Amino acid sequence: MATSSGGGAGDQAIHRPDKASWRKTLRLFRYLRPHLGAFVAGMGCLLVTSLLSLAFPILLGKLINAHASGGGFWSAPITDLTNIDSVAKLLILVFAFQAAFGFARIYFFGLVSENALARLRQDTYAHLIRMPMLFYAQHRVGELNSRISADVALLQEGMTTSLAELLRQVLTITIGISLLTMVSVQLTLTMLATLPVVALVAVFFGRWIRKLSKQVQDRIAETNVIVDETLQGIQNVKAFSNEGYEAGRYGSAVLKARSLALKGVRWRGAFVSFIIFCMFGVIVFIIWRAVHLMADGALNMGDITSFLALSIMIGASIASVPELVTTMLKAVGATERLMDLQEGETEPLTLHPAGAPLPIRGDIVFEQVAFHYATRPDHAVLRDVSFHARPGERVALVGPSGAGKSTVASLVLRFHDPVKGRILIDGKEARAYDLAALRGRMSIVPQEVLLFGGTIRENIAYGKPGAPMEEIAEAARKANAHDFITAFPDGYDTVVGERGVQLSGGQRQRIAIARAVLKDPAILILDEATSALDTASERVVQEALDKLMEGRTSIVIAHRLSTVRRADRILVLDQGRVLESGTHDELIANTGGLYHSLSRLQLAGA
Ligand SMILES: Nc1ncnc2c1ncn2[C@@H]1O[C@H](COP(=O)(O)OP(=O)(O)OP(=O)(O)O)[C@@H](O)[C@H]1O
Ligand SMILES: [Mg+2]
Repeated sequence: MATSSGGGAGDQAIHRPDKASWRKTLRLFRYLRPHLGAFVAGMGCLLVTSLLSLAFPILLGKLINAHASGGGFWSAPITDLTNIDSVAKLLILVFAFQAAFGFARIYFFGLVSENALARLRQDTYAHLIRMPMLFYAQHRVGELNSRISADVALLQEGMTTSLAELLRQVLTITIGISLLTMVSVQLTLTMLATLPVVALVAVFFGRWIRKLSKQVQDRIAETNVIVDETLQGIQNVKAFSNEGYEAGRYGSAVLKARSLALKGVRWRGAFVSFIIFCMFGVIVFIIWRAVHLMADGALNMGDITSFLALSIMIGASIASVPELVTTMLKAVGATERLMDLQEGETEPLTLHPAGAPLPIRGDIVFEQVAFHYATRPDHAVLRDVSFHARPGERVALVGPSGAGKSTVASLVLRFHDPVKGRILIDGKEARAYDLAALRGRMSIVPQEVLLFGGTIRENIAYGKPGAPMEEIAEAARKANAHDFITAFPDGYDTVVGERGVQLSGGQRQRIAIARAVLKDPAILILDEATSALDTASERVVQEALDKLMEGRTSIVIAHRLSTVRRADRILVLDQGRVLESGTHDELIANTGGLYHSLSRLQLAGA
């Protein structure tokens, strides 16, 4: 079920130099720019709350040194810091302000990050959906899915809580230390003597943990790919009774992620306990020094209380920094991957093309087209394909499986460009058209019909978003789908299940035909459009298709030669070459040809 090796981008990200990651993270700020006002307001509140929280230890010292006054609680002037009633009132005021500004801070940062993230999600998806087909061949759905869900979630955590929290802690630490020097320079120097050691260790550990957590994220993305693939292809898993195999595959992927995560846990644990040890060591050391200083008369009890409360706050801030930095670095890793995704070159198409449909007549010319898929450069799929389909003509492609028929169809749709040769539409090179406008005039009924999870009505309307119900029903009638749809209790509002699994293959195919009809294209591509139908329904649908093909250039791919008999020209494709071309009668007359032998085989089988 694993169709491509995928997973590449995640691994590459680990080896990227750090400068590039930071540069990419800086690009995130373009998402913040529209909300700069709220961001600045949030920063202001952040500053105020940090200052207010530092006022607490200072006032605590004052509270201990203060004395009771006879005047009563309410009459004490709030500015008299020696009066215990005043200090108590001031403290309550400080807490009240802190609560108000704390709310505003969280609100403003939330406002900025939620808006920025919504925009980022939109941009990433809009970019993703416009990538060329090659991109999807090289990446697995699960991996891309986890970019938009998991990576954005990491980013969110980093941006909403950790960034603000980190700034708050840095403010607490810097302002706190300057307050400390105001209380006692000697004691502050004592404390600072231990700080650089802790800081150095934090930087070293932080780097290492960042690397580990990035690896863990990639491993987890790999396990998600397995879940995605197997649940999407659950029929295959069950039909081959490969539940055990898949459980084993998933199990060992999980175990790999687990041991790596455990390694990260050990390092993080070591880190945290080291910091905690340092913090308590510093406290004991400070008290020890403080008691000596008090004995010398350099400090009083209130000062020591302030100093200790401040030190504990600063210590707690320092201890919380590594966790916050780790979260931030995770967010940087996630940002890097998201930005990588946004850097990939998209197809040159507009998301919301305006204006009238492209006025093409549907003249298609293949000039010595050669092609191989970029994922398999040494496997030539088309070697030399030339043909001309005039406006309104019906050109059939027949030939053995793997001959390259569907590939021709995807080249017409410009999913890929030819490696050699040219494709002309209405005499102009296909590349010269706006991609969305050109595809807007083409319809395909693909070999494997996948419907979207909504209702039948929505699925048909996909050919022309916003089409009125009458048009949808009309299209369904033309595709001979109306009867079976109205036979469902919910009619057009029947939910088809994820990817249309609640419908039969033939029903899905007729819905796909209705969708193509609704689009009213100039160029119609039918890739085995009736292959899933029984002979009776095929006849009815074939009639519908015959009507549908009138006045449009059609490329019809079919295994059953009976369905291509009426084509204006039949191309017999084998191993990427056009072996024969002509009408049915011409080709059948060539008794030595591939068409002749194919049709003899089919007659014998029927
Ligand atoms: N996305 C792809 N990437 C790489 N190779 C591909 C891809 N799609 C098809 N091929 C290869 O290109 C060749 C032609 O495939 P194509 O689907 O065009 O055959 P086909 O004539 O439509 O066959 P069928 O009748 O079975 O549908 C095959 O050898 C196939 O393995
Ligand atoms: Mg095919």
